[in-house]
Amino acid sequence: MKRTALLILAAVTFAASLPAQTPRKHALLDEGWKFHLGHAADASTDFNFTIANLFSKTGKATGTAIDPTFDDQSWTSITLPHDWAVALPFENSDNADVLGHGYKPVGGLYPRNSIGWYRKAFTIVPADSGKRFSVQFDGVFRDCQVWMNGFYLGRNESGYVGFEYDITDYIRFTQENVLVVRVDASQYEGWFYEGAGIYRHVWLNESESVHIPSGGVFFHSKVTGGEATVSVHTTVVNDGLKDEWVSVQTYITDRNGKVITKSEEEGSSFVPAQAGIRSHVELTLKNAHLWSLEDPYLYKVVNVVRQNGRVIDQDRQRLGVRTVVIDAATGLSLNGKRIKIQGVNCHQDHAGVGLAQPDYLHYYRIRRLQELGVNAYRTSHHAPTPELLDACDSLGMLVLDEARLLSSSREYQDQFRRLIERDRNHPSVFLWSIGNEEGYAQTNSIGKRIALSMLALQRQYDSTRTSTYAADLGNVFTGVNEVIPIRGFNYREKHVVAYHRDHPGQPIVGTEMGSTVTTRGIYAIDSVKGYLPDQDITAPWWASTAEAWWPLAAENDWFMGGFVWTGFDYRGEPTPFQWPNISSHFGIMDVCGFPKNIYYYYQSWWTNKDVLHISPHWNWKGREGRNIDVWVNSNADQVELFLNGKSLGKKAMVRNRHLQWSVPYRAGTLAAVATKQGRTFRTQVQTTDAPYALELSTERTTVLADGRDAAVVDVLVKDKRGREVPDAGNLVRFSVQGDARVIGVGNGDPSSHEPDQCAPGAWQRSLFNGKCQVIIQTGKTVGAIRLEATGEGLRPAAVTIQATAEK
Ligand code: GAL
Repeated sequence: MKRTALLILAAVTFAASLPAQTPRKHALLDEGWKFHLGHAADASTDFNFTIANLFSKTGKATGTAIDPTFDDQSWTSITLPHDWAVALPFENSDNADVLGHGYKPVGGLYPRNSIGWYRKAFTIVPADSGKRFSVQFDGVFRDCQVWMNGFYLGRNESGYVGFEYDITDYIRFTQENVLVVRVDASQYEGWFYEGAGIYRHVWLNESESVHIPSGGVFFHSKVTGGEATVSVHTTVVNDGLKDEWVSVQTYITDRNGKVITKSEEEGSSFVPAQAGIRSHVELTLKNAHLWSLEDPYLYKVVNVVRQNGRVIDQDRQRLGVRTVVIDAATGLSLNGKRIKIQGVNCHQDHAGVGLAQPDYLHYYRIRRLQELGVNAYRTSHHAPTPELLDACDSLGMLVLDEARLLSSSREYQDQFRRLIERDRNHPSVFLWSIGNEEGYAQTNSIGKRIALSMLALQRQYDSTRTSTYAADLGNVFTGVNEVIPIRGFNYREKHVVAYHRDHPGQPIVGTEMGSTVTTRGIYAIDSVKGYLPDQDITAPWWASTAEAWWPLAAENDWFMGGFVWTGFDYRGEPTPFQWPNISSHFGIMDVCGFPKNIYYYYQSWWTNKDVLHISPHWNWKGREGRNIDVWVNSNADQVELFLNGKSLGKKAMVRNRHLQWSVPYRAGTLAAVATKQGRTFRTQVQTTDAPYALELSTERTTVLADGRDAAVVDVLVKDKRGREVPDAGNLVRFSVQGDARVIGVGNGDPSSHEPDQCAPGAWQRSLFNGKCQVIIQTGKTVGAIRLEATGEGLRPAAVTIQATAEK
């Protein structure tokens, strides 16, 4: 693309209103897809894909599922997002990558399950024949090829970075258009569960020939005193065949859309056919309302493209005005306030649905993390879902945004560029990561050269931020570490002090810290089932407990803090076990988001809430008289423990630690009474009776009847006296009335082989240590949705949520 003009527009500040909406459309294309598995090694069950000589003639698709006339009626009807791996049964294997991916039979060893075909028919009316159209895929796992009406659009290898194809030339205005996607998940990209399929949104974009392309706007701000200067860089392209003249005007509105300031309307600029122009404008916000973790205020930047006075395009994006400073001696500051990173690593995986998460789930998961006191999220080890970043912007969560691979090859530089262009306007993104634990390169000169190339690219596309790299190295300063602006430590916190001593000018962040392996509600190692005690005891050799790393980070200003491995359990990496263990144990919460006991350690020291938590539960029938290790997590000054009213002693709480008692078991009530700055609060665990009644809870009372919104419903069981039974394992069945469907179930048991996806009308899940979870998704009918749970010998329970009309 030629760049023909650089316009510097002066800012004027007076109120005005935004022009009415524009011809640009950005419509979801998630509904009405057909899906069928193909075959990676057998053309006859892969719709003749490899034998059809598809590339000999343009548009040639005969004899394949790519042919628009192909009959897909017998294929499964699905709605995106879709992850076909999550529904496959588990299969035992000796292969380390199959283990790493959670024993799902997808990948090179399973050609029968590793190709997915998707078809989608849609119409475009003849009245729109002058417009430009593109299809935008936010994420497909992985290596996919796309055709429109039999014509080839392209291939995208990345399982994580989105892509967009112009389809204008291939549209049929008088009959249906057919988009066909062949997804090849034979290769993995990571060593953890990665799913398979079109697991993020697909959009149909419509614009005039002259328009602002995706990634075409970049803005950032500088704050001096109370005033912010917002720089907005805008690219306008002309994808048409005729030269055009257009003008660009930039507005900033408050969060409600009221215009606060705008650039002057300028004369038109020349945009030749098949070329583009860039403009740059600086606008001032007096008394800027800053974006912070406590108050994530978002303005809007609106770019308007006009031709002969007519608005032909309008791009609206949210703007968070904030300053980020990273200093080797004092760590991270946001808007001048020092922030210790209380972070977590997360993969994109949730109980029941795997990678195919409704937008709501991203908000759900970020809120669960915030309740725990998390203020930063590392997208390990790949480009995140756009809606996750939207959630972080809206809710006030910092993001360390990571490239998939340390590589300066054309393919990966292109992926990194697309990641930066897509994510650089998010205020939540405070730092890039150029890679993770690259054992073949990180300490040698090749790694150093790759890092330098990636850093140059990062600066080219975003000079306002800097990068780190997650190194599983101690006090080592060769290769990537020599050139990386922020030294990332994966584990090895014992070497952090020496590294800081030797390299005092290089800021340090814990890119992976802690990593206690725990199974929710379990109190002994069970190597047959693959369970670990739910206390801060067991860590792999390369990792550490929470108490081994957090005090070090908390007590040293130069240590920026770190990201725990991990916030939630995820499928795969069942460290330190293997089959039948199919899911990891690293999470502070399980795969459903149910807290494990370590949650309360972090919550004690990461929040100002009064935390007082006793573990384990007090149901130890048969262990009368034997000593039980009782852990108390709290941020009180001191805690006294009582068994059945008798004091077991008072202990002073040391900051960033926990308390422990050894208590001979007797059924009854174990209570803790805490005092904090003269105040008293208490908690208790009690020996319960048998399960009696189911109970459902959800944070939602209303959902949108838009066919996309979702609700997470937690299930537990109580005894006759209303006490939650912490070790219950009852099977629970679910049914829904109203226009909604269950899309997944889970229980956080890392060794459960129960299906997360059941046949319609047959949804069920066992409780694991007293809990399980159901995720429901709305239909499009306004009205009540009632989820009912039943279990043998248990009083049933129901929850009702109102599905309301779209705003
Ligand atoms: C790290 C790695 C993570 C995860 C973790 C498990 O070395 O970066 O992706 O595999 O180990 O402990």
